[in-house]
This record gives sequence, structure tokens and C-alpha cells, in this order.
Amino acid sequence: PRSYPSNLIEKDWSKRKHFHNKSVGPFLDLVHNMEVHDEDVFIVTLPKCGTTWMQELLWLLMNDCNFEEALSKDLELRTPFLEFDYLVHGELDTAFKPVDDLKDPRLIKSHLPLALLPAKLWERKNKVIYVFRNPLDAYVSRYYHGVTFGLNYGKTLEEVFDKFIENEESVIENMEHAHEFYQLRHEPWVFYTSFEKMKKNLRGVIEDVSRFLNKPVNEQQMEKLLKHLSFEEMKKNPKTNHLWELSQIKNKDAGKETHNFVRRGQVNGYKDELKPEQIEKANLLIQRYLDKNLVTLNELL
Ligand code: A3P
Repeated sequence: PRSYPSNLIEKDWSKRKHFHNKSVGPFLDLVHNMEVHDEDVFIVTLPKCGTTWMQELLWLLMNDCNFEEALSKDLELRTPFLEFDYLVHGELDTAFKPVDDLKDPRLIKSHLPLALLPAKLWERKNKVIYVFRNPLDAYVSRYYHGVTFGLNYGKTLEEVFDKFIENEESVIENMEHAHEFYQLRHEPWVFYTSFEKMKKNLRGVIEDVSRFLNKPVNEQQMEKLLKHLSFEEMKKNPKTNHLWELSQIKNKDAGKETHNFVRRGQVNGYKDELKPEQIEKANLLIQRYLDKNLVTLNELL
């Protein structure tokens, strides 16, 4: 399945002007052939679906609830984003250094679709956690992230969102990304959940993930996790607000207008941010995908 969505990724990456304009193909090959360690855990999402929230939880579970270290070291350095180094520096030789520098057990974040993740995952059955989120909320969140990182600086949400729904292909790509993992949800090495489930019952998700990872927590640790992972705590935590990542971005507009990374944290917040006709058009495209693939949004959420 190697070549499947790489053309879409190529297009997506080439739009990000602060990144180098080298081809993404050789990098994707490198990822596909990447060595994984037995204990490696992957968190896979589309951008803005609650990655950071789940990542902080996973890192803590995998590191004996070491809150002290979590509060003293940037999340991106404890659990790197696999594509980030290449996106920013465009060097194949050093692209995996942040991952290679980690001690086992490693927690690795990626936004790549299933088919482009390391092929070894299928052999080794490394644990993969997937987090879905209503695409409209994710897309609104992505707009503000883009403003902070200099991509959408000076543009309105309305115009950026219009561009997104103009292109049915990218809506389909987003849906496929999640649907492929949803279809694997019963595999013992896959844990599929959603931002919405985390909002509704964080304790329940923590219990399920800790069972999945085989990392039990006692009640005292659970209470601390719930507090540490609350919206209020994470919003004021400089280590979970991607300040390190922002410092690496060379785009001249990066940081001119900033929105806190942990921004609003709502379910269906899009309803008061987008225009009704935009919502209708986006939902129509999403529905078309769902109907064609015999799945409902409620199931995915
Ligand atoms: P909003 O921009 O809608 O607020 P990602 O980490 O995948 O980029 O996702 C970022 C989104 O997750 C942001 O959404 C952010 O506010 C939200 N988020 C992060 N931590 C959260 C928490 N503890 N509670 C609720 N939402 C959280």
C-alpha cells in the first residue's frame, strides 16, 4: 500500500511555506522502512484531535506517573513527533534523531495515515493509540494553530475553512485516516478512542488505556492524573503548550498572533465559530463519505 496517499501528503506539505520544499517521498520511504523497538508505542491522530492530551497521559503511564519530569521537560522532547524534524530541517540523515535519542519505552507521535507508518508495526504489533475528533472541531482548532505557527496569519477562519471544504479530496482523506484505524479497533495492538470520549469520561479512558498498556494506576495516581490532565492545568502548563515546537519554526509570521495551544477544549465548539452554510457544506461532504462506507459519525466518535 506504499504509494496510496503520498500524493496528498506531498500537496499538503508543499503548502506549508515555512517548511523546506524538498520532496516528501524519500522521507516516507525512510519511515516505512524504519526499525521499531519491541516496546515502542505510537500515538496516531490527525492534527488537533487531542493528540497532546492523550500523549501526556500515555507518557505518564509509560513512565511510572513521573509528574516531576513531565512538568520539567517539554512534551515534544519526551515524546517526539516523527515527521517534525524532516518537516523543519529537510535532512534525511538526522530525521529520526529525536526518536533515536530516546530511551525505551519510546512513545512516538505521528499524523501519517496507516499505510505510511513503519511496516514493522504489522510484524511486531506495536501498540498504537488512535484518537479521533469531530472533523469540524479539529479543523477550527487547526486554523488557530496555523495562525500561531504563521501559516494562517492575517487570514480569517471563514476563508481558511472555505478552502478546506472546497476540496472534497482532503475531507475524504481525513475521514479515511480515522476510518482505517476504526476498522482495526478490535486488534489487540490497537486502541481506538476519541476526543469526545475523553471529554465525557476521562477516568474511563484512563482506565481503558492503562489496561491496554498494562500499566495499572492506583487511586492516588488516578486522582493526580485527572488533575494534571484537566483543561485548566494543561492550559497553564508551559510544557504541554508546544512552546518548544513554536521556537523551532522559521516562518516569519510565526508567533505574531498567538493562540494558546490548549485553547478551548470544547466538543462542538465549531457551532459558534463557523457560518451555518459552511457547517452544512462540510457535513454534507462528511456524510457522503460515511454513507459510501457504511459507517456513522457516532460510531467513529
Ligand atoms: P481546541 O483548539 O479546540 O481548544 P492536538 O494536541 O491534537 O493538536 O489537539 C489540540 C486540541 O486539544 C485543542 O483543541 C486543545 O485545546 C485540546 N486539548 C488539549 N488538552 C486538552 C485538555 N486537557 N482538555 C480538553 N481539551 C484539550
